[in-house]
Amino acid sequence: MLVSKRILLGITGGIAAYKTTFLTRLLIQAGAEVRIVMTPASADFVSPLTLATLSKNEVLSSFVREEDGTVDWNNHVELGLWADLMLIAPATANTLSRMASGACDNLLLACYLSAKCPVFVAPAMDLDMYKHPSTQKSLKTLMDYGNSVIPAESGELASGLIGEGRMAEPETIVAHLQAALRAKQPFSGKKILITAGPTYEAIDPVRFIGNHSSGKMGYALAEAAAAMGAEVILVSGPTALKIADPQIRVIPVVSAVEMHTESRRYFKEMDIVIGAAAVADYRPEHPASEKLKKTGDSMQINLVRNPDIIASLGREKTGQFLVGFALETENELAYAKKKLKEKNLDAIVLNSLRDTGAGFGSDTNKVTFIDKNSEITPFELKTKAEVATDLLHEIHKRLKD
Ligand code: C5P
Repeated sequence: MLVSKRILLGITGGIAAYKTTFLTRLLIQAGAEVRIVMTPASADFVSPLTLATLSKNEVLSSFVREEDGTVDWNNHVELGLWADLMLIAPATANTLSRMASGACDNLLLACYLSAKCPVFVAPAMDLDMYKHPSTQKSLKTLMDYGNSVIPAESGELASGLIGEGRMAEPETIVAHLQAALRAKQPFSGKKILITAGPTYEAIDPVRFIGNHSSGKMGYALAEAAAAMGAEVILVSGPTALKIADPQIRVIPVVSAVEMHTESRRYFKEMDIVIGAAAVADYRPEHPASEKLKKTGDSMQINLVRNPDIIASLGREKTGQFLVGFALETENELAYAKKKLKEKNLDAIVLNSLRDTGAGFGSDTNKVTFIDKNSEITPFELKTKAEVATDLLHEIHKRLKD
């Protein structure tokens, strides 16, 4: 959630400022880009040099900067607009009150007034200051402005008193930001099951019938869906691909029958199912339990039909949005539409092997999205990651809440 997010961290003058070193480190570790503005008082509690080193950026605290005889302006408007998210931690009673009233006599407050992004404050102060009606009123005003408050926690305070007012721990602040960002995503709260890759149908313990599917399209869909806030189950046939995103649960399978069993296991709780796997249509009827030996000049393997996974889910569906893929070589549109109907899908993604750069193994794909009302949306040749995002946007447009 925080990967490549531009975070403007505002630090004010409270003892909890020492925790911002850990906070900065966590944000950087989570993949964010961090720039820091400090109020002049905060430098008494934490060193700008430490924060500049940890954030890998210059730390700013005044409107002007004098260097080698020249005077430069620290542009609060540019900083405020640069940020995807502004976090003021710790937020003292003084800064909260000044943010609420629109005061603007330091760089941090000027950035706050210029920022158009979501703003979060993590208050930190002594318990009576926190409880004071004026502080509570400031917090309420800021929430009315649309800012978010990361509540102070209870515990031992710098004054020696015990009560509410401790700044939330850096881990809690990061978790709060991640949850807030996730909640803003188009697929927040949605569960998506994706089948991906080939299936291997055993002939004997060492041989199988398989296909050239790399799984790249299904994995790209899983990653894009997670990036758009979904909780993803990826039922994957054998591939060389890896998933790092904790929002994606990979269920490895080998055969079509296993893929069918696993897909059905989770189907009821899903909102969306996308069948991107290249499932074998047939499997050897009696896989040998020992390695087959060479005998005659020819051999026969009797094949039986595999379950059509997406069609079987189509028969069971109770409101899930079901999307299939159709890889065609001729009469593409007509075959795709026929499949959509026969499998009771809500949409089908057509890719034609006639298009160069589309299909198995490649990093690009050229698809056409067709929904059940025959609305046809063709796309240009793009990377599979871009195709995945396009497809998910098409699905999102058609979801009933
Ligand atoms: O009928 P055809 O195999 O061309 O349909 C392709 C679509 O059906 C894909 O979405 C694929 O994942 C799915 N499919 C399936 N189970 C099968 C065969 C195909 O889910 N046995």
